[in-house]
Amino acid sequence: MRLYTTVAALRCYLEQQRSFCESKSIGLVPTMGGLHAGHLSSIERARRENDICVVSIFVNPLQFAPTEDLQQYPRNLEGDQQLCAQAGVDVIFAPTAVEMGVENGIAIAVVPPDSMIKRLCGLSRSSHFQGVATIVTKLFNIVKPQRAYFGQKDAQQLAIIRRLVADQNYELSVVACPIVREESGLAYSSRNQYLTASEKEVASVLYRGLQQAERLFKGKERSRQVLLSAFQSIVAVEKQVQLEYVDLVDPDTLSPLDKIEDKGLLACAAYVGATRLIDNIVLGVRQPIVAIDGPAGAGKSTVARLVAEGLGLLYLDTGAMYRAVTWLVLRSGIDVTDEPEVAELVSNCQIQLTPTEVWIDSHNVTQEIRSREVTSQVSAIAAQKAVRRVMVQEQQRWGEKGGIVAEGRDIGTNVFPDAALKIFLTASVGERARRRQQDLAKQAADNISLEQLEKEICDRDLFDSSRSIAPLRKAVDAIEIQTDNLSIDEVTERIISLYRQKVTPQSVA
Ligand code: PAJ
Repeated sequence: MRLYTTVAALRCYLEQQRSFCESKSIGLVPTMGGLHAGHLSSIERARRENDICVVSIFVNPLQFAPTEDLQQYPRNLEGDQQLCAQAGVDVIFAPTAVEMGVENGIAIAVVPPDSMIKRLCGLSRSSHFQGVATIVTKLFNIVKPQRAYFGQKDAQQLAIIRRLVADQNYELSVVACPIVREESGLAYSSRNQYLTASEKEVASVLYRGLQQAERLFKGKERSRQVLLSAFQSIVAVEKQVQLEYVDLVDPDTLSPLDKIEDKGLLACAAYVGATRLIDNIVLGVRQPIVAIDGPAGAGKSTVARLVAEGLGLLYLDTGAMYRAVTWLVLRSGIDVTDEPEVAELVSNCQIQLTPTEVWIDSHNVTQEIRSREVTSQVSAIAAQKAVRRVMVQEQQRWGEKGGIVAEGRDIGTNVFPDAALKIFLTASVGERARRRQQDLAKQAADNISLEQLEKEICDRDLFDSSRSIAPLRKAVDAIEIQTDNLSIDEVTERIISLYRQKVTPQSVA
């Protein structure tokens, strides 16, 4: 593991890594150190999902008011280093305030909208989120990660960073990591070190209050007043806990909610002695997402459609989306390698999927998108960065409400990393070639030899798994199903039964 304290060294290291292999993905976990189980779960996830895992450790003076605990904030670089090494971190970035150019608090600031920083914690910490947004912007510019990991524990920070990434057009995904709690329910925090054992016990009342509100929510209670009162009445029992605020807001915009339509963030801050603690819970019910990945020709789309039917979920035919834009590009006469022109076309098109039809810009292309011409070009189109960006955004919009089965080369790793069930469907090259030949025979298409099809499949596998954008990979938490000796019905049944064993409607959090 490397440890760098200068921007120059970190940049040099990352540039070297990128020059060895352009497709190396970088995951960034920004922290202020004092690492605990909450940080480590994000770090471990970043480790799994990226080629290079960077952890920044920097106690950012910009986000502390003069009256706050900047001087006392827990610092333990040696201990943090050990934990990072054990977690397989590639590089720690631990600069000084001088190196970050913020030692005297004067720096060009990134100022999030008032509507996001003036409520919740912003009521008592007026310049805090400006300080966070400024330092995180600097970290993004220095590290240029593909993914950045933030804890749901700091829900307001998470919403602001998401907005920062969208508003400043950063090309990275913000990955939200669930809150990790001690056995008592108290959320891990570096500031828990300030608490005595008995104060910790007392502090766990915050989570019990949140759980009480959640119980009511599960019993169909949606009103702000009732949910807040349920929380307050539990917390009021502990006289040592001084509630600073509790609020119910939209988790994305942070606007206050009178009642929960879709999802709500119940967030609080409280003092236990001199220590300020925050906690929250997201209340919402999202139907599960089933993500089916795997190499081309393994039967993903047929199986996904049948699984969706069997479970009464919606089948999101992502393959058809890519095929439809490929059809559009071919029809427009644009050179398929002219990426900017392709990007322009794809950014302006409208795709509609119904259970049986695929439409693009008012053309019903259900049949045409299965042609050999489209099949032979779809990988090249889908590998283009701009095309992927548009399609992934579109798919994630479908995924917001959940209740879908989606398949694709990187659905479980990239599009829906939080899917409730991930399947990696595979089959040998020979088997996939045989299936493809049968398909083509059914369509009365040209007779192509098995050898030719095998070669096409091998070429496509190589291309799909070595491409720089969203390469084919099995997600670490995916269940692999080898389908060579299984009928479609058997594969479908196996997935449906896995779903019934493993999945219950999940909370949005
Ligand atoms: P810090 O408090 O060190 O937290 C670093 C990251 O760990 C944040 O994304 C935070 O939400 C997450 N985290 C903290 N406690 C957690 C828990 N119990 N479970 C899950 N995740 C948890 O947040 C900051 O530092 C700073 O504001 C920073 C983003 C680094 C900018 O300076």
